Amino acid sequence: MCGIVGIVGATPVADRLLDGLKRLEYRGYDSAGIATAVDGRIERRRASGKLIHLAEVLQGDPLPGSTGIAHTRWATHGGPTTNNAHPHATGEVALVHNGIIENFKPLRDELTARGRTLESETDTEVVAHLVSEKVEAGMAPADAVREVLPRLHGAFALAILFRQHPDLLVGARLGSPLVVGYGDGETYLGSDALALAALTQRIAYLEEGDWVVITREGAQIFDRENNPVERPVTISGVTGELVSKGNHRHYMLKEIYEQPIVVAQTLRSYLQRMEERVTLPIPDFDLSAIRRVTIVACGTSFYAGMVAKYWFEQFARVPVDLDVASEFRYRAPVMEEGGLMIVISQSGETADTLAALRHAKSEGQKIAAVVNVPTSTMAREADLLLPTHAGPEIGVASTKAFTCQLAVLAALAANLARAKGRLTPADEKSIVRHLAEAPAALNGALAYDESIEAMAHSVAAARDVLYLGRGTDYPLALEGALKLKEISYIHAEGYAAGEMKHGPIALIDDAVPVIVIAPSGPLFDKTVSNMQEVQARGGRVILISDYDGVQAAGENCLATITMPKVHPLIAPLVYAVPVQLLAYHVAVAKGTDVDQPRNLAKSVTVE
Ligand code: M6R
Repeated sequence: MCGIVGIVGATPVADRLLDGLKRLEYRGYDSAGIATAVDGRIERRRASGKLIHLAEVLQGDPLPGSTGIAHTRWATHGGPTTNNAHPHATGEVALVHNGIIENFKPLRDELTARGRTLESETDTEVVAHLVSEKVEAGMAPADAVREVLPRLHGAFALAILFRQHPDLLVGARLGSPLVVGYGDGETYLGSDALALAALTQRIAYLEEGDWVVITREGAQIFDRENNPVERPVTISGVTGELVSKGNHRHYMLKEIYEQPIVVAQTLRSYLQRMEERVTLPIPDFDLSAIRRVTIVACGTSFYAGMVAKYWFEQFARVPVDLDVASEFRYRAPVMEEGGLMIVISQSGETADTLAALRHAKSEGQKIAAVVNVPTSTMAREADLLLPTHAGPEIGVASTKAFTCQLAVLAALAANLARAKGRLTPADEKSIVRHLAEAPAALNGALAYDESIEAMAHSVAAARDVLYLGRGTDYPLALEGALKLKEISYIHAEGYAAGEMKHGPIALIDDAVPVIVIAPSGPLFDKTVSNMQEVQARGGRVILISDYDGVQAAGENCLATITMPKVHPLIAPLVYAVPVQLLAYHVAVAKGTDVDQPRNLAKSVTVE
């Protein structure tokens, strides 16, 4: 959830560390800091808030040194203050950390009992002191770290700098990702390949429990039993250029607009248009023995999974369990032979989802991973990698990743149905044709951007907003509410439309806009009845439907949004667009930080 960069370099590193942090700001932006080893001492610069503040500090007080570590923080223990910003340092060592040291309290008590003074409220600082104690006792850096690592419970990626050894860094990973980058006469550590994109494409992924000593000459990697190991060096496809916003005001808007292209790009790997067949990137992966599917994900990815549950059950008639990843492991789930777990994740690094994947794997489940980052931990640990080709998603609010996930999941459901003998060739052709229509339909939906912008003010003034939908529109209602909450800070809830009368309808008055997602189709009349129950109680409705739906039920609404008429299979992709755009324009009207909303981070690598 935090970002780490480290360089053992041939020339001064502060600017390059700052550049690496810019690429990692999606991991957190509560505070940032850099430390270097300079003339036998450790120098630090830290600042609270976004990276721009650290850049200002560095401008006023430049940092020399050709070996250093850097960090961008998403606060877990201790507020987002400069004092809690990493690197944490003693006189001897400085250290950056991503993860949570769960046993930091007893370690802290132990350290203070030995007379050490800790300055921050973080869990991390104890590690700096534990390593420092060993170094002060005369141990070499590698020995000191090797002795301390077994004492740490929880999750960590660490990069550690030593005052007396300006020619090396020590890194370690357990539960949080860390990579080694190989340059020409320089070596790097980073949270991911993106952090190091401007420095090198030659990347080795550390495995769980690995720790590493890097020098300018290269890296010595050890496994959790302290045996020297080799980890393969791969060439990362991530380029050095920072992804730009193009002509758009925010990354989120750019990413919403990219959807027709990236969904088409994604579908290309899953549809054989000429043969009108669905396919998988690993065609010989046998789905016929799958008897049960478990879908696990978080946030927006979870809502994509919720839509997919309808498809798996409808097409393949395979029972589907669906869980938010943070709950999955802790409810003793029953996983029988013949089970397929599908994890869905934009980043492929979300700690809760990764923990669920590992738990299911240890219980003998086959693992399919629908991920957007093909080098991520989930991608590497899955049996069946199902990539979305959405390209880098920078805005914290997930948009294009969601519609690409839906495209992959629809194709997977059809593949499973065929493997189970539940799909006729005619049905398969029809699925392929409808999915192939999605990019154009997404374009059609984007054409309503201006009218959605024009109505945003009526939502921006609200304190609470409700979203309603039935069937696959119910997860979309939840997704709409999540989008609005996270970027506009307006309280919003999504409900199954038919569930309103069991309680939530008590919330209805003329101050609560109710957004009803109801494409015309088999569930339309039922949803409209629920909408009318809301209107009868003074509720102000914004109806999102197609032309027929708006004609039939739009009359007494506060506003209507007309979508292109589409087949129910692709409706969840198409109706994602208006809920994304509405949240976006409401946030802009409120003046919030759309791409980096408060308290959030793009990649959540702590449980
Ligand atoms: O990278 P992941 O898809 O695993 O992330 C899951 C959630 O953290 C993510 O979807 C989050 O809910 C988004 N900020 C929602 O817009």
